[in-house]
Amino acid sequence: MNAPLTLPAPAKLNRMLHIVGRREDGYHALQTLFQFIDLCDHLTLAPRDDGKIQLTSEVSGVSHDDNLIVRAARLLQQHSGTALGATLTIDKQLPMGGGLGGGSSNAATALVGLNHLWQLNLPLVELARLGLQLGADVPVFVHGHSAWGEGVGERLTPVTLDTPWFVIIHPGISVSTPGVFQDPQLTRDSRPITMARALQGGAPEWRNDCEAVVKERYPPIAEALNWLAQHAPSRLTGTGACLFAAFDTQQSAQAIAQLAGQHWSTWVARGLNTSPLHDALGYL
Ligand code: C5P
Repeated sequence: MNAPLTLPAPAKLNRMLHIVGRREDGYHALQTLFQFIDLCDHLTLAPRDDGKIQLTSEVSGVSHDDNLIVRAARLLQQHSGTALGATLTIDKQLPMGGGLGGGSSNAATALVGLNHLWQLNLPLVELARLGLQLGADVPVFVHGHSAWGEGVGERLTPVTLDTPWFVIIHPGISVSTPGVFQDPQLTRDSRPITMARALQGGAPEWRNDCEAVVKERYPPIAEALNWLAQHAPSRLTGTGACLFAAFDTQQSAQAIAQLAGQHWSTWVARGLNTSPLHDALGYL
């Protein structure tokens, strides 16, 4: 049996996010640019031959069986028919419900990592289809490349984005994603744009359509966005709570992060075009 593996589960930022419609199932059709950053959780996967899936770490507010890591492992077990199980340990750095995709990334690392550990050799496209059952952001983490996302975020075209240094601020509150998407004030009908137009960057395309509603519902997020905007254009990722701004150098990002750190949890992270998970497993 294979030795245990420790693999990264990186965060993402939505460099821009437009909402272009509402589907009959209540989900929203989006256009977004996903970018990986080098901020990561780490998942250790050890195979077991009794078929059990056991997550050893407790993640606050989520029961063992509801954890996306456990759900991903069971889904892959069922789908592949393997008799193997796994003991899983997550070392969390990414905030929960922060818009950085932490839970989705953990699920994707479980799918991609167990595919490797259990020697299933399923293609990424099949794992991404499975992952979509767990959350709209799981497929991009399974594919492992910065991407233009449409649909609910599952129709992905790999793109190459600039790779600045980001200052990322967590204003210390958690946002209800369904609450934001259901808010009657939400802009739900932005005119679709082409990927080429999105990739040109800059205002007015690089905006997040959730921002107005989130600022209204969560004043501490508005405060942090306004503070960061004094230094560089600031934007929400996903439905928040995290927000970010891009800087050309690590030094300039660190200088702003030091100031922000006096008020909020703050990180400096490098933009990437490939996922550290896929780099580690030699996919890319
Ligand atoms: O897929 P995920 O679990 O991240 O979505 C959480 C909630 O956010 C969904 O239940 C839905 O209410 C809302 N959502 C949406 N449109 C999307 C993604 C999420 O309405 N594209």
